[in-house]
Amino acid sequence: MTSLNLFSDEESRQPIPLGPQAVLLRGYALPLLSEALTALNLVTSASPFRHMLTPGGRKMSVAVTNCGSLGWVSDSRGYRYARIDPLTNAPWPAMPYSFLRLARTAAETAGFSGFAPDACLINRYLPGARLSLHQDQDERDFSAPIVSVSLGMSATFLFGGLKRNEPARRALLQHGDVVVWGGADRLRYHGILPIKGPGHPELGEQRINFTFRKAG
Ligand code: SIN
Ligand code: FE2
Repeated sequence: MTSLNLFSDEESRQPIPLGPQAVLLRGYALPLLSEALTALNLVTSASPFRHMLTPGGRKMSVAVTNCGSLGWVSDSRGYRYARIDPLTNAPWPAMPYSFLRLARTAAETAGFSGFAPDACLINRYLPGARLSLHQDQDERDFSAPIVSVSLGMSATFLFGGLKRNEPARRALLQHGDVVVWGGADRLRYHGILPIKGPGHPELGEQRINFTFRKAG
């Protein structure tokens, strides 16, 4: 049989620069996914997905949960990190080792060695859900990068500048893709356009995103 793949795995896995210190690693998570999906089920059975309220009182279209010692929460008091899940009144589930390893090796590949995330925000988008342009700035120090893993349905990622009104570049994020941004790009505005298009063969009509951060 002849192969129709024109590129070797090596060539198709070259990092795609999105900024001076931001890269898209296509398919980077694919070899690690079955382990990560099993771990995801354990996390969400302890701390289920829920729709949080924005400080302005609106329900977010994205459903979220967390694992790790700190979890990102939003309510009428604002955005912050908390050790206790307000839904279960228990600590967030521990970060699975498979998640930690994925985040650490992706960061390393992007040039950020020694990444030790203590927070993993897990976002679930059903068709129509979106995340408007924002900066990740609730973390205590900005020297660590952000590592973002995409699973399931594809999404258009907006990657803007350091000011909200700067033009944003668009990148299609697909199942298994990882984006890492840090250093000079750490505070870039970013967001997700409303999810649409075909469901995913394994995950169905949803997109799941893991965002790893050093929060505390
Ligand atoms: C986020 O910015 O928290 C999530 C981005 C994404 O879903 O890709
Ligand atoms: Fe973000």
